[in-house]
Formats: sequence, C-alpha cells, structure tokens
Amino acid sequence: MNDKLRICLIGIGRTGQEIARTIMDQDDLELVMAVCKSKSDKLGKTVNDLLHLNQYEVPITSVEDLEDNILKYNPDVAIDFSSPTATLNNVHTLSKLNIPVVIGTTGFSEDDAQQLIALSEKYQSGIVHAPNITQGSMF
Ligand SMILES: NC(=O)c1ccc[n+]([C@@H]2O[C@H](COP(=O)([O-])OP(=O)(O)OC[C@H]3O[C@@H](n4cnc5c(N)ncnc54)[C@H](OP(=O)(O)O)[C@@H]3O)[C@@H](O)[C@H]2O)c1
Repeated sequence: MNDKLRICLIGIGRTGQEIARTIMDQDDLELVMAVCKSKSDKLGKTVNDLLHLNQYEVPITSVEDLEDNILKYNPDVAIDFSSPTATLNNVHTLSKLNIPVVIGTTGFSEDDAQQLIALSEKYQSGIVHAPNITQGSMF
C-alpha cells in the first residue's frame, strides 16, 4: 500500500523549487504535480529537468489546467507559493475540489484574506496561511 502524502505544488519559483527538493527527499511524501503560469517556459518540463535532479518524474503543468490535473493526479494536499491573485484563484479551485491547501504566498490585502475565509466556510475546506516558514532560533 502506498501511504505517502500526495502533494501538488503551485508556484515553482525560488521558494517553490526549494520546497520541491525537500518534498522529493522525504520518504513519506510524494510530489505528484507542480504548477506554473500558463505561458511559462517551465511548461512541459519535469521537476527533474528544472532542478537538475535524478529523482522520480514530476510533471510541470499549467495553472490554466489546474482543475483537470488535480483530478488526474489526485493530490491529498496543495502547497501554494505563487502570487496573491494567482493564489486566490487557485484556492477557489482547490476548495471546490475539497483539496486542503497550505498557502505560503504573502501580500494579501484585507479583502483577499476575507475572500479566503469565505472560501473555507463555503466549501468547508482546510486552508492554512503560513506567511513565515523560516526557521526560528531560540535564545
Ligand atoms: N511563507 C514564507 O515564509 C515565504 C517565504 C518565501 C516566499 N514567500 C512568498 O511566496 C511567494 C513566491 O515567492 P518566490 O520568492 O518563490 O517568488 P518567485 O521566484 O517569483 O516565484 C513565484 C512563482 O509563482 C509562479 N506564478 C505566478 N503566477 C502564477 C500563476 N498564476 N499560477 C501559477 N504559478 C504562478 C511563477 O511562475 P513561473 O514559474 O511560471 O514563472 C513563479 O515561479 C511570494 O508571495 C513570497 O512573498 C513566502
């Protein structure tokens, strides 16, 4: 039985790439899809191509096809490090499909934040906003 947590990563920029590496290094996690902009030069590549890795293959797909690819790759959870506007759209799609999402994107307005809360209430979906994932230190 494969009991790895299946992850969809949206936004494969500076931070997304580090997150992809970390996920692919963990035995209990599986990166099943990564998502870029609709006209990105990353489209059609794999995460291995992008990061020069020799790991299992993960397709990089367009945000335009997010819903279709969520249904195809069947992730348990999504992680979004893209941009506020993109994230709002993505969370709408994810919530509708009942996929919980961890949002690392920053820069939401108060209105954006209210929209995220409204989506979680409407679809009863799990939305975590983690605006600071940096490791802290204890004194
Ligand atoms: N929570 C934290 O601790 C933390 C830490 C670092 C950064 N962040 C936040 O995370 C976000 C990304 O930061 P970054 O430094 O990784 O930025 P970045 O290098 O510019 O990466 C942003 C990525 O988002 C993608 N993107 C933009 N619009 C998109 C859309 N409509 N659909 C799908 N992907 C889209 C871009 O796609 P392409 O690849 O196709 O160009 C790009 O790869 C920012 O909001 C930043 O403030 C948060």
